[in-house]
Amino acid sequence: MSILVTGIAGFIGSHVARVLLERGEQIIGIDNFSDYYDVNLKKNRLKVLENFDNFTFHNVDISNIVSVENIYKKYTFNKVCHLAAQAGVRYSLEAPMEYINTNIVGHTNILECCRNYNVKNIVYASSSSVYGGNTKVPFSVKDRVDNPVSLYAATKRADELISYTYHHLYDLNTIGLRFFTVYGPWGRPDMATWIFTKKIINKEPIDVYNNGNMERDFTYIDDIVAGTISVLDSINKEGLKLSKVYNIGNNKPENLLSFISVIENYLNIKAIKKFKPIQPGDVIKTYADISDIKNDFNFLPTTSIKEGVPKFIDWYKLYHKL
Ligand SMILES: NC(=O)c1ccc[n+]([C@@H]2O[C@H](COP(=O)([O-])OP(=O)(O)OC[C@H]3O[C@@H](n4cnc5c(N)ncnc54)[C@H](O)[C@@H]3O)[C@@H](O)[C@H]2O)c1
Repeated sequence: MSILVTGIAGFIGSHVARVLLERGEQIIGIDNFSDYYDVNLKKNRLKVLENFDNFTFHNVDISNIVSVENIYKKYTFNKVCHLAAQAGVRYSLEAPMEYINTNIVGHTNILECCRNYNVKNIVYASSSSVYGGNTKVPFSVKDRVDNPVSLYAATKRADELISYTYHHLYDLNTIGLRFFTVYGPWGRPDMATWIFTKKIINKEPIDVYNNGNMERDFTYIDDIVAGTISVLDSINKEGLKLSKVYNIGNNKPENLLSFISVIENYLNIKAIKKFKPIQPGDVIKTYADISDIKNDFNFLPTTSIKEGVPKFIDWYKLYHKL
């Protein structure tokens, strides 16, 4: 019996897989090394995992049903941790079909194979983006999420709905995790923590959207990994039949300018800020109500940005030999 991790060369997938491998799980990982950002970074994340004997990797595009099916034919999975996606809010305005192919066709391919090969337990990545322009905070899983403001958000919401349908029709247990702005070592070059750190080090100006009047519930990768694994571990406890979504965030929104000042202070370099209007598709504030995941899975984030940001910067400098 093994666990299938999709998007294993990605930021969150590689961390989740490493922790599962360390405790001895058999992990089959798939990824297509999409070139949305630096493919070498993905290959280097994978190198860390390749040190484990209990790890097998296959280059698979989840939007190709035949390739996905070959994996399900070859192995017996007891669980799937489905993290592969075309991520990024802004890029969904430029390349909408990438989102449809990977996030909708690919997600459905994974569910369809779970149905046909009798894999009952799936934990998958959703996103805080599904809350769109909601202004009632903190965001609760009980809130309506019918107004996505980017195609990325719409595809993630579609994943939640399709997962529910597969639960209803075929008895699959599906849990969607709405991740809130994840950051940390091995993070993503398209996200704020990386972009700000890189530009501040290089003394280049940083774009500060909505004149800095934005808040994000920044969540440290180790907290995300602990929460994701705790959900994976418990999803099939006592033969539960369920289809649910949970918020997984730090439960502490940070103002963009104070986030930048944590980076400036640790680097001891002042940022050159270029204030810009809000970008299409962006939301002003994210803030996770995490009471459900706390109650059901004992999720408790412990890393503040004052602890987490320095850990990212230390890794960033080491990785780039600075
Ligand atoms: N990082 C965050 O802050 C955040 C926030 C909300 C939701 N999420 C979601 O969490 C999941 C993991 O995000 P991440 O930050 O690790 O992103 P990531 O881009 O680093 O990882 C996703 C991985 O999926 C792979 N992939 C893309 N298309 C594929 C395809 N067609 N077939 C196979 N593999 C494919 C990519 O190559 C990449 O390695 C995603 O579903 C993302 O939408 C992330």
